[in-house]
Order: sequence, then C-alpha cells, then structure tokens
Amino acid sequence: MRAPASDLPLTLSDAVVLGHGVTILDRLNITFAAGAPTLLIGPNGSGKTTLLRVAMGLLPLDGGRIAWGGRDASPPDRRAIVFQRPAMLRRSAAGNVRYALAAAGTPRAKRQERAVELLTLVGLAPLAQRPARRLSGGEQQRLALARALARNPDLLLLDEPTASLDPAATKAIEDIIHSVAARGVKVVMSTHDLGQAKRLAGDIALLHRGRLIEHTPAAKFFSSPRSEEAGRFIAGELLV
Ligand SMILES: Nc1ncnc2c1ncn2[C@@H]1O[C@H](COP(=O)(O)OP(=O)(O)O)[C@@H](O)[C@H]1O
Ligand SMILES: [Mg+2]
Repeated sequence: MRAPASDLPLTLSDAVVLGHGVTILDRLNITFAAGAPTLLIGPNGSGKTTLLRVAMGLLPLDGGRIAWGGRDASPPDRRAIVFQRPAMLRRSAAGNVRYALAAAGTPRAKRQERAVELLTLVGLAPLAQRPARRLSGGEQQRLALARALARNPDLLLLDEPTASLDPAATKAIEDIIHSVAARGVKVVMSTHDLGQAKRLAGDIALLHRGRLIEHTPAAKFFSSPRSEEAGRFIAGELLV
C-alpha cells in the first residue's frame, strides 16, 4: 500500500470565513510547514478556533483558497484535531484508543499493541482500564492526544489543550507535545498563555479580529515584535 501523500505544507491564501454578517477570518495568508510547533495566539474571538477548524477541513472557506500538500481537496487522513473539551467514549482509556485505531484503519491484530504504545506515550498506561469518563481533566486531554495520534497524523491541530488545567497537568501535556514534535509531527496549537507559547513555539502567529497581525519565529516575536498589537500583547495589555 502506498503511504498517503503528506498534508504539509498547509497553505491558506486570502482565506475568508464569514458568520452572520461578520468577518471571522479576514483574508488570511499563512503557511504551516513541517518543523517546530506553530503557536496561534490572540485574544478571545480573534479567530484561533475557526482557523484550526478550517485547517482540519471541518469548515469551508467563504473566500480564498486552502491547500494541503498542494492539494485543495484532501481527505483528513494525515491530520487530526483535539478540541478544548474532548468528548470521551463510554469505554476504558484503552477502549477509546482502540476505537480510534479501528477508525484509522489499523488492522485488528495490531490494535492492542499500538494502543499500549500510545497510552505509554501519553503516560496513561497505568490507567488503561479506567473508564475514560472517570479520568481527570488533564488525563482526558492526554487520552484525546493519544486518540488523535492513532491516526498517525503529520499535522496535529490542538485548540487550547491546557486551557482549564493546573500547572502539573499543563506540564504533562507540554511534555507530550515536545515529544510528538520531536518525532516529526507538525503541531499547530492555540493558546492564550504567553509562557506556554514561549516554551513550545518554533514560530508564533498572532491573530486579532480575524486578521493575521504577525507570523514570525518565536525568538524574534518576543524580542522584537514588529506590530503594535504584538508589543502590547507581550506587555500583557488586553487586546480588545
Ligand atoms: N459559527 C459561527 N457563526 C458566527 N460567528 C462565529 C461562529 N463561530 C465563531 N464565531 C465568531 O467568530 C469569532 C472568532 O471566534 P473563534 O474562532 O472561536 O475565536 P477564538 O478561538 O480566537 O476565541 C468570534 O467573534 C466568534 O463569536
Ligand atoms: Mg477558541
């Protein structure tokens, strides 16, 4: 069997999303290429979640173009998304991962071994038999990562995966993101935690009111922001 073509680079050209008379994404031009994680930052309502849904192919554009690996129509074989509050199936942690593996077409005989690998990667092997809905918020978020990785994506989209987690649970998620990225998976992730953006990002994309204000390597973004909005955001001012 031929490996499916890569979803990378993902390119948006003049991408527009409209909703009830408002412009949610405003002529966005951005490319997500293989490499270190891209962190999407910006205030609430700036369009981060919308951009991630577009990138997954869940939301059509009202204008402009999107291409995955140069193809403008692409089955979601090589990408996965984890939402802010992932829904857990009424099964064990391992059962949730096996279900995702089945959905991804993993042969039955390989699922158990692969489920153990994925649960180990996210630190949940000891809780494999625990009902998923009885896991803590942080554990559920890690299980959601394992399910997403069951698809063997080359592009992993994460929408504020640590938004409601305490520092220890946040660190566990960040450690997983580091190791996933080190294995060559491109991570595109939203956050409104600047510290987290500093810890994880190769590059930063700042959105404000549906527009891409700045997209630069992380070190440059924090040391010499080009835009007034970025300067204010880094200084901790509220962008409204
Ligand atoms: N389906 C929708 N219909 C209309 N407006 C929407 C829809 N989804 C999101 N919005 C609006 O689009 C803007 C961007 O939302 P969102 O992408 O969720 O931003 P963020 O994730 O950065 O907080 C917000 O003003 C939000 O209210
Ligand atoms: Mg959001």
